[in-house]
Amino acid sequence: MSNSTLTSNPAIITIDGASGAGKGTLTTRLADTLGYAMLDSGALYRIVGFMANEQGLLDDNSDDTLLEEKLANLTQSLTIHFQKAKQNSEHISVIVNEQDISDFIRTEKVGEYASKVAVFPKVRTALLDLQKNMAVGVKGLVADGRDMGTVVFPNAPLKIYLVASAQARAERRFNQLKNAGKTADYNEVLAQIIARDERDSSRAVAPAKPADDAIVIDSSVLNAEQVFAQVWQLCQERLCQERNLV
Ligand code: DC
Repeated sequence: MSNSTLTSNPAIITIDGASGAGKGTLTTRLADTLGYAMLDSGALYRIVGFMANEQGLLDDNSDDTLLEEKLANLTQSLTIHFQKAKQNSEHISVIVNEQDISDFIRTEKVGEYASKVAVFPKVRTALLDLQKNMAVGVKGLVADGRDMGTVVFPNAPLKIYLVASAQARAERRFNQLKNAGKTADYNEVLAQIIARDERDSSRAVAPAKPADDAIVIDSSVLNAEQVFAQVWQLCQERLCQERNLV
């Protein structure tokens, strides 16, 4: 498939699923291969979680309605940019209110804050246009998250939902932490993953779940290369079909 065949409308590929299932690796590789833009929607919720914690909102004892209002106001007040750190670099810097906070938002703790603020519908609404606008003026977009296929881009021609057992994901995360020279406790990592899954999939609004037309891939026993190969095949079939090119 030549990339020029996909230039008419923005071609959107959604990659949803639980944390640690390999969404980020797959999204980056697909976007690079196709020359598409990339949306890391988890980073947006991490930004809100991080800023909310900085401002003491997560220790706030206000009732949920007031807290939701404060979080929505905070979200609306943020100026957010994603920026490639260097030309040809895979690293994307996250700039919030002109400050680079990339190094602060990737921790497990901020993942938990993100999951907590993400349950509030008004926070989700405040981030919706920003996400939709990522598909404007680009030839294609690969969007990574929990509700990309169900809420943000419901008309995307190719929707993938990656699943993997909590144990497989915990093992990967544990090894990543160990390889980075950090101390980690496997059972603690597993417990965090299970707690985050539970919150993300049981919330009332935009719960993490596959869209009816999503293709579910279990990455528990597949490596990143095998997952990419499966999705690449689907990409060729679905995106070309969508444009009546096959
Ligand atoms: O993908 P991630 O681990 O960076 O996401 C962090 C949290 O943000 C995740 O636990 C739930 C929330 N999130 C969400 O609710 N909707 C999305 N589209 C992406 C992330």
